[in-house]
Amino acid sequence: NEKYFTNKEGHLVIGGVDALKLALEYGTPLVAYDVSQIRSQIRAFKEAFAKRKFPAVVSYASKAFSAIAMYQVVAQEKAHIDVVSGGELYTAIKANFPMDKISFHGNNKTRAELEMAVEHQVGVIILDNFYEIELLSEVLAEQDKNIRVMLRLTPNVSAHTHEYIQTGQADSKFGFDITTGQAHSALKKVQANPQMELIGLHAHIGSQISAVAGFQMEVANLFKLINQWNAQDHYQPKVINLGGGFGIRYTEEDEVLAPDVFVGAIVDEVKAQCDQLNLKVPEIWIEPGRSIVGAAGYSLYTVGSRKNLPGMTDYLTVNGGMGDNIRPALYQAKYEAVLANNPTAASVEKVHLAGRYCESGDILIDEQSLPATKPGDIIAILKTGAYGYSMASNYNRVPRPSVVFCENGYAQIVVKRETYDDLVSNDCFLEKEL
Ligand code: LLP
Repeated sequence: NEKYFTNKEGHLVIGGVDALKLALEYGTPLVAYDVSQIRSQIRAFKEAFAKRKFPAVVSYASKAFSAIAMYQVVAQEKAHIDVVSGGELYTAIKANFPMDKISFHGNNKTRAELEMAVEHQVGVIILDNFYEIELLSEVLAEQDKNIRVMLRLTPNVSAHTHEYIQTGQADSKFGFDITTGQAHSALKKVQANPQMELIGLHAHIGSQISAVAGFQMEVANLFKLINQWNAQDHYQPKVINLGGGFGIRYTEEDEVLAPDVFVGAIVDEVKAQCDQLNLKVPEIWIEPGRSIVGAAGYSLYTVGSRKNLPGMTDYLTVNGGMGDNIRPALYQAKYEAVLANNPTAASVEKVHLAGRYCESGDILIDEQSLPATKPGDIIAILKTGAYGYSMASNYNRVPRPSVVFCENGYAQIVVKRETYDDLVSNDCFLEKEL
């Protein structure tokens, strides 16, 4: 079965570990990753370039799931990472992640964040806007240091995906526009600063993309610009970074393409453009997030209350919800769940799988087929590894779950469960009557 594995007891298995044992030992809600799936996805992207003998960098977009242990796994796989905040950068520093393999993104990096990035000499800062070019110039002058940069461009491609997560169309808050003189004036500014080494151009067209056409258009649009810049300014990038967005199959409805198919299409398009325009072949960088960790993550919950109304679908409630996975409430994202002690059991009913948070929209799965369940049963929602824990909150003052990594039959905690004390640890008592 491509969706999940079971053991001889018929229980769901995650990274060789029985899901019921995980729930018993670590409690629920629990986010459990099968680490071998993370590794095999990173390897699949790397091998897709290697077999085509194409110079490339695979950079894990760590906003999808960031933790010290995650950065350790990426470092073991000799891939790069993207960070988008001082917090992600700090976590990578704590993990001893090689600084030269870090790309720093963001459309409003603060002076303090830029100072931190320059001080630690991150591999590349991806410049998003004119204000940032000014800020970074000041920081470089103060610290008397150089840094490598890329320009983030708005590639003017709109991927067919949920509108909240579109970033590539012309009217976007991200990057320098290529349909006006904006991108060119950014090029001139960066070239005029001897402390910035412009290694390449970056674009990102969106997320959960299930076709290659958007990436081909992105490449074509970038090369149109590179061709102009080559003629006018004798500038050709060493690197083109095409961003992330490679989709995964959450449910049967989703179409899915293998990393090899995406990479094949991208490589072919880059080669074709370079041939046609007689340009140097750049190194290709990609930034997959979801496709690295999405399918590797499982959310384990315990079944609690049930509400039944005659003639209507029952609400079956679990002990987590929008605080640990906001994607259904925020994007109407679809998932599938199984009963952890018997994932293959025939279903007897359809339920609304509801969360425990005080909001009607906190429904994890609107229509889930399940076998008979009782309170205390463990339900696993599949493929919650991307943008689940990383978007978790303390809404309703519910502590965030713990995260475990499982591999080769061995499990270990990589993020501890929050305690009630953690929740109040930043609260301060009123000192005097206001
Ligand atoms: N690179 C850049 C510049 C990005 O903005 C993103 C995602 C990625 C790479 C990684 O994209 P991925 O391969 O994961 O699709 N919270 C939303 C997704 C937001 C994506 C934001 N940018 C969700 O839960 O669907």
